[in-house]
Parts: sequence; structure tokens; C-alpha cells
Amino acid sequence: MSASRSILLIIGGGIAAYKCLELIRRLKDRGISSRVILTKAGEQFVTPLSVSALAGERCFTDLFSLTDEADIGHIALSRSTDLLVVAPATADLIAKMATGQANDLATTALLATDKRVLIAPAMNPRMWEHAATRRNMAQLERDGVLVVGPNSGAMAERGENGPGRMAEPMEILAAIEQALSSQVPPRAIGFLGRLPGGSAAAKPLAGKRVLITSGPTHEPIDPVRFIANRSSGKQGHAIAAAAAAAGAQVTLVSGPVTVPDPAGLTTIHVESAREMLAAVEGALPADIAIFAAAVADWRVADAAPEKMKKDGGALPALSLVENPDILATVAALKTGRPAVVVGFAAETEHVVAHAQAKLARKGCDLIVANDVGGTGVMGGESNTVHLVSRDGVETWPTLPKTEVASRLVAHLAGLATP
Ligand code: C5P
Repeated sequence: MSASRSILLIIGGGIAAYKCLELIRRLKDRGISSRVILTKAGEQFVTPLSVSALAGERCFTDLFSLTDEADIGHIALSRSTDLLVVAPATADLIAKMATGQANDLATTALLATDKRVLIAPAMNPRMWEHAATRRNMAQLERDGVLVVGPNSGAMAERGENGPGRMAEPMEILAAIEQALSSQVPPRAIGFLGRLPGGSAAAKPLAGKRVLITSGPTHEPIDPVRFIANRSSGKQGHAIAAAAAAAGAQVTLVSGPVTVPDPAGLTTIHVESAREMLAAVEGALPADIAIFAAAVADWRVADAAPEKMKKDGGALPALSLVENPDILATVAALKTGRPAVVVGFAAETEHVVAHAQAKLARKGCDLIVANDVGGTGVMGGESNTVHLVSRDGVETWPTLPKTEVASRLVAHLAGLATP
């Protein structure tokens, strides 16, 4: 990876501006330097001081600053970079870009540049869906502007819900990596949020094969009875759907669940842990493997071939043997190991410490740990997770499982980008 990649980040005036601080940090981790223009409205949300501290150099704020012009003129500023990134791209900035206005440093740089431009729109859903914004976005698409997001969900304004949330820093990072990649033709990245015009989605996992296990396993006692657990498959299925939406070629190996098969991917249905292992081995190779299934640790040693009868005699004794560990088996593959192997850990206490131990024991790259101690996570709609890797621990707030899925996919897209 080249260390000399750089972007010019234009931070617009929206509540999502704070996410740019995280973005700058993540970019630095990936060896991408950022020079920042903060718009007047952007200054209402983040300070030049915090931006400069993270970017490692003074940020630019004023078109007519003589010092800035002496240092580096606004024309040079817009060209001495590999990519311009506008985040948050407000309705106002988008309108100015679409009509070619140049009345401040940000819009002047956008008009003067000879580099590609990626925008991360963020606004109220009604503003996003307004005919004027639709027209402006269509114009930017014709102009070859790249777009990541927006995502759908709750807005900062109470009670507002819908498309308009700025893409997460890891999603923007993945889109930046994709745009900077020399193989990507200038117009290959499209819209992550679907526009009424039906533009293609930004696909941070395009070309990647993703394998996911989900749901419980059923371990037969006899043909009609089995040992099971409370896993619903909601989280694993949501991850599979999010990976498919991100452009991956997805194989989902699902235990018995009542949630429907997600669209746009291949689902293989299995019952037992051994069937799940066979299906996983058959579905390899993959670039990313995510083991979200709650695989039964044990199975009945000699499942009865016929239904066991209650004959009034001695109670049947179930003798158990250990199931194969699918995650550990795949993580230990000498050849054909997926580049990123992710495990899950459902814990009731010492969640992070146990996840760290599990990371080492299973030989995977990331553990998504959640506290299932009386929280109704299994079968519930939301999840509180910690991402535990050898680099440290990232704790997310309690989120709907669909949101955990899209954030995890964005995170993995960041890791899997070459
Ligand atoms: O050891 P534990 O069951 O807590 O580990 C959980 C992680 O290991 C999950 O990612 C789960 O899908 C995976 N696992 C597996 N095969 C097993 C047991 C667990 O793939 N037999």
C-alpha cells in the first residue's frame, strides 16, 4: 500500500460532521493523509482545532485568507491531492456543486479541481427526497461524482426516520479506498442509497466472496427429538443481507430458523453441526468468513434410528460427544483460509476478557462479543456488541441487529480492502 495517498476532506455543516474526526483517524491508520477544508457551517459542529490536531496540520477555513494563499493557493489545494471527499455533503453543498457555485473555499476547490470527488450526503429524509435534491444528485451523477450513502435510520431530529444518515466512517473509508484504487475507473462507484432513478449501489464488497453461518443447530436424539438452543438467526441473516447489499457474493449456511432466506444470495439449509461443517467446507473458498451460528457444543453419541419409546423401564441416558468446532477448523486452514475470519461470542459475564481468550483459542481475526446475560439478545431485535481484535476493543452502543450488520460489513470492507 502506498504511503503517499492523500485526500482533501471538505467538512460541511451537519450534525454528522463529528464522524469526520473518526474518519481522519481511520484514514491515518490506513496511511492516507487528509488535508481539511472546514466550511463556515461545518465550524458550527467541529472546531478547526480538533480537526487540525487529528489531521496533523492546520485546517483551511477562509477563501480570502492571505496566509493560506501565500502558503498554498486554493487552486493548488484542490489539485495537490488524490481525491476530494465531501462529508457531510449537505443539501446546500450538493446544490452548490450541481450548479457550479464558487462562493467560498470549499466550493471553489470543488470547482477548480481536476481530481475525482466523493460525497457522503447527510440531511433530513424529506430534504433528501425533495425533487430539488433529486435533480441535483442526478446532475452530480452525470458529472461523475462518486457517492457513498446515505443510510436509512433514525435522524438526530426526534421522530424523524428514513434515508439521510451519513454513511459510517468505515463505509466512507471503504469508498475512499475503492476510489483511490487504480483499478477502479472514475465512474465505477455509484450510489449506496438507492435513488428513485435506480442508480447502482456503491459496493464496498464487490468481488468479495463472503461465507456466513447463522442460526442454531439441531442435534438429533432420535428422528423426532433434538437438542437445540434459542438462536433465532436474526443477526447472522442480517449480516448476510448487508454483505449482499454491499456487493459481496454471499453463501449463507443456515441452521433451522423461522426467519426467511435473505434475497440476493445463496442459502444452504442444514440441521446439525456436522452438516454445517460439511456445507461450510463445500462453500469455501471465501475472502471473508463470519461464524454467527450458535453451533451446539455437543451431540448425542448414538442418536436412535427409530423413535425412542417410553416403555416404563429405565430412563434413557443421553451420552454426549463434542461437535467439531467449525470456526476453529476454518481459522486453522493451512491453505485456502479466508483472509478475514470472524467469530461470535455470546457471554454472560466478563464479556471482553472471554472474547479475547476466544480470539486466541479459535485463531480467528475478530470476535464480535455480546452480553447475553438476561438481555434477550437471543431472539431479540437489538444487540450490544464489542469488536475484539488483536488491535484492541471497539464497543458499539445498543443497536438494532440490522444496524449492527451494516456497521460490521462496513468494518470488514475496511479490513478487506487491498
Ligand atoms: O466456543 P463458543 O461456542 O463460545 O464459540 C462461539 C463461536 O464459535 C461462534 O462464532 C460460533 O459460530 C463458533 N462455533 C463453531 N463451531 C462450534 C462451536 C462454535 O463454529 N462447534
